[in-house]
Amino acid sequence: MYKLIKPILFQIDPEKAHGMTINALKFVQKYPKLLPVINQLFHYENEQLHQNIKGIYFENPIGLAAGFDKSCEVPKALEHAGFGALELGGITPKPQPGNPKPRMYRLVEDAALINRMGFNNLGMNKALSNLRKYSYQIPIGLNVGVNKTTSYDARYEDYIKVIDTFKNDVTFFTVNISSPNTKNLQSFHDKDEFSQLCEAIQSYKDKQNLRVPIFIKLTSDLTLDGLGQMLEPITQTFDGIILANTTQQRDHLNSTNRHETGGLSGKPLFNRNLELISYAYKQTNGQFLIIGTGGIFNTTDVITMLRSGASLVQIYSSLVFEGPGLTQKLNKQLAQYLKSNGYNNVSEIIGLDV
Ligand SMILES: Cc1cc2nc3c(=O)[nH]c(=O)nc-3n(C[C@H](O)[C@H](O)[C@H](O)COP(=O)(O)O)c2cc1C
Repeated sequence: MYKLIKPILFQIDPEKAHGMTINALKFVQKYPKLLPVINQLFHYENEQLHQNIKGIYFENPIGLAAGFDKSCEVPKALEHAGFGALELGGITPKPQPGNPKPRMYRLVEDAALINRMGFNNLGMNKALSNLRKYSYQIPIGLNVGVNKTTSYDARYEDYIKVIDTFKNDVTFFTVNISSPNTKNLQSFHDKDEFSQLCEAIQSYKDKQNLRVPIFIKLTSDLTLDGLGQMLEPITQTFDGIILANTTQQRDHLNSTNRHETGGLSGKPLFNRNLELISYAYKQTNGQFLIIGTGGIFNTTDVITMLRSGASLVQIYSSLVFEGPGLTQKLNKQLAQYLKSNGYNNVSEIIGLDV
């Protein structure tokens, strides 16, 4: 079905096509009788894929990556689309329009996207009221960012504001310091700034006795040394690490859009992010939660990321190229792989290649 729609969809500006998808999902949400139909089309369940991680039950390891549903507008429809978890957002305290359009590009020859959205979202209060319209059966995470107008020294307070606002409504948070489209955000990867951020988050957690796990999402552009230096404070402050966000590198690309400014996602990210994942797994002796993302297009990619140390994975770009049937396909084929190789549960293959 998607093979038929894709050529038409790819004639349309990528952000417009995304808006049409969100509208279709809003329609589904408005007519709850359609939800079982979506479920029938995209959902696949198998006990071998179940995991309990950080006290959270994941029916399968394939999550939706941040940035697809920026303002929590369609989580109820997405819940039925076969994902093991959703990461909504990135959300900032105040609403903001993001960067001028166009700001999203397809790189068809490279199976990649470039975006410089700049945290366009309706702000935390509206996003929260959107989220509260429904209840959910799968883990709902929230990706947290910083407003463009926030002063340099007050940036970490934005994370705390959003976390505080959503603390009773989500299953996990992701502190996003890795978007390349908000000026100075990535400087949180620097040692001093990162330790200030960790202190602020830790002190908030202690004061509130916060039970919701907080993950940190890093840039794909980190060196292994840079990642190594961050791992100690990360394991002390956070409950997991997402490796990794988009890259600003443009090596070995063929598409005409390759020179656009922004974060590159999709296939070209895969090997790089895999390297970061194996390294983090090795350095933390397999004792720290890693969520893998970046360029997962097929079941071999999923298996490779899990075997390199990720306990869960997230996808975004491949949904654009392969369509919404991908989650079911990945889950089904992963379960088949586990069965035919004698594994009882997906957790048994995590880190096997490291
Ligand atoms: C249009 C777009 C918007 C995104 N917005 C966010 C965001 O708000 N926060 C975030 O942490 N990552 C964001 N991402 C990054 C994705 O969550 C994901 O980490 C990245 O695209 C790599 O995965 P992929 O290759 O499967 O797309 C965005 C990606 C795209 C393509």
